[in-house]
Amino acid sequence: MTNSASNQMWGGRFSAGPDAIMEAINASIGFDQRLAAQDIAGSRAHAAMLAAVGIVSDSDARAMREGLLTVLSEIESGTFQFSTALEDIHMNVEARLKALIGDAAGRLHTARSRNDQVATDFRLWVRDQCDAAEGGLMALIRALLGQAEAGADWVMPGFTHLQTAQPVTWGHHMMAYVEMFARDLSRIRDARRRMNESPLGAAALAGTSFPIDRAMTAEALGFDRPMANSLDAVSDRDFALEFLAVASISAMHLSRFAEELVIWSSAQFRFVTLSDRFSTGSSIMPQKKNPDAAELIRAKIGRIFGANVALMTVMKGLPLAYSKDMQEDKEQVFDAADNWMLALAAMEGMVKDMTANRESLRKAAASGFSTATDLADWLVRVLGLPFREAHHVTGALVAMAERAGCDLPELPLDDMQSVHPGITTDVYEVLTVEASTASRTSYGGTAPTQVRAQVARWKEILR
Ligand code: ARG
Repeated sequence: MTNSASNQMWGGRFSAGPDAIMEAINASIGFDQRLAAQDIAGSRAHAAMLAAVGIVSDSDARAMREGLLTVLSEIESGTFQFSTALEDIHMNVEARLKALIGDAAGRLHTARSRNDQVATDFRLWVRDQCDAAEGGLMALIRALLGQAEAGADWVMPGFTHLQTAQPVTWGHHMMAYVEMFARDLSRIRDARRRMNESPLGAAALAGTSFPIDRAMTAEALGFDRPMANSLDAVSDRDFALEFLAVASISAMHLSRFAEELVIWSSAQFRFVTLSDRFSTGSSIMPQKKNPDAAELIRAKIGRIFGANVALMTVMKGLPLAYSKDMQEDKEQVFDAADNWMLALAAMEGMVKDMTANRESLRKAAASGFSTATDLADWLVRVLGLPFREAHHVTGALVAMAERAGCDLPELPLDDMQSVHPGITTDVYEVLTVEASTASRTSYGGTAPTQVRAQVARWKEILR
């Protein structure tokens, strides 16, 4: 970065350059250079529009548009010299354009302000991130569908309070996350639709007296329409907040799944084996294979939710229209977006690679009296007991099995009949975990038939 004493953008009113500290606190070029491509796309659209309505000549517009492409290629190839004295990406680009094409560059900023310019650039950037998130979520959903399809009838314990509750299927558990990530997908699409309006042409805050064509620049930049109020256009950042809110919810989902993978891959559970590609070893304990990727995904919610709170706090209480506070909107969003995309990709990789250990899953599913509810339901259905009484009888049978140190299917019929004489040998049919899961055919239930139907439905939707 290079520094200069006076400011070429507003030097007219100033007799002294800024203090070094002033320059340091004021400059955003250190981070907003990430908006370079969006800034140049916005300026190119603006230049074309200025010529189309006769505000600048065609030859000036052509020089600007071509010069801007040169600037972009310099930035992309890393030869561009960013200057802190030039504060931000907008002024860095414009100054370089002036060096390249001369005076015509000075006409580019007609009927425009950095306020609508930065609002436009940032919207375009966040919009791209919505598309990237959509891709990441779809890939993760596909990986989960693959697991669900393979293990539609593999039995595992279903938990409440992290205590064995009832047997469920592996496919059903995977599909629960498909539902969650699909809602994240729907939320990000929704946010994208709402943010897709152009602030460009709102100028500093009040619009402009030049005969600009805002619909033309909006269309050139892929926006659905220009924003309808210039004060709002330059001063709200709700599009970025919506992005962060969706990212936060999605990171929360990711962190819950990550936590399950951490638990499931432990030696005590052994429900899954994570691939070497997504695990790390220990420098001192040779036996260790650690689920670091899952742990880091679990932690990402911290910075993403932090970004959401930080930007909400920056925006809270700001009077209309633009205030410099709003320059603090970018770094948080950049960081949250980077980490959300990374977490999605890492989770997709882990899910694709992981192996469910069917034997351990089944064994765990069959322990802890997990079919007790099935037994109670049988007493209601076959013997006509009121559910409360069936619950009581089942409780007594569970206690008996616990004393005998066996599971429910291993209790002899005589013993069962000593608790309730009506019990017949038919009861054993509902006590296996396979029978238990297969019987739960209610819509959205855990039966393999239901899981396969849901997998088919999602595959159809994603096609
Ligand atoms: N770097 C500024 C930002 O990120 C650009 C807008 C500056 N506008 C102004 N009136 N100072 O918000």
